[in-house]
Amino acid sequence: MNGRFDENQRIIRSLLNSLTLSPEQINKRLYCGICPPSIYIHQVSQLLKHTPIFLGAQDASAQEQGAYTGDIAASMLVDYGCQYVIVGHSERRQYHGESDLDIANKAQQVIKQGMKAVVCVGETLEQRNAGQHQAVVRSQLQSILPVIDMSQCVLAYEPIWAIGTGKTASEEQAQSMHQWMRQVIAQYDIELSQQITIIYGGSVNENNAKALKSQQDIDGFLVGGASLKPQSFIKICEVF
Ligand code: PGA
Repeated sequence: MNGRFDENQRIIRSLLNSLTLSPEQINKRLYCGICPPSIYIHQVSQLLKHTPIFLGAQDASAQEQGAYTGDIAASMLVDYGCQYVIVGHSERRQYHGESDLDIANKAQQVIKQGMKAVVCVGETLEQRNAGQHQAVVRSQLQSILPVIDMSQCVLAYEPIWAIGTGKTASEEQAQSMHQWMRQVIAQYDIELSQQITIIYGGSVNENNAKALKSQQDIDGFLVGGASLKPQSFIKICEVF
């Protein structure tokens, strides 16, 4: 729930003006997208027209269509040019009580509409301190692995204690979890475990992006706060 009409325009114009990577470089080295709040998807789609930056959404309904007041169907997001949808962000799990099953259903709807699902997983601080982080993430993965087409997913490891807190997971913590996620996936499909894109999210900024990116199993980032500061976001993009 960040951004307003004028601010969105300012952020995106400034981003487009300062991004020094050419569209070709972006396509080759960097796959970059913006997922605005749903009500601004149309505005952002206009601003991103003819740019290499793709458009995504922050959530979609687990239902296909019908009487679900206030919800937005995946098919509606397609109408506005979305190519990706984030599902299972910890804030959706926490404030809207979304279960693993809801998230699997949402991902299914997104994929059915030809978009990619960015599925978020991650543990709380209590779970990490209790040494349960691997078990928690394994169980979140196991709830989606058998039921959705994982080739149409990007996974985002987002330790809840690192989101919006300024506390980033260390490179070692993030790498070790990404590696663990590939191990869990390998039990279902070895090739998929090597090919799937796994991004890290949680207080990524221009100072920690390079070190995180250098880790073998970290393919990219889900950026929150730093994406509201174009200069920081650009510096993050430039580590790719
Ligand atoms: P942050 O947010 O980068 O501000 O920690 C990440 C997120 O909301 O996924």
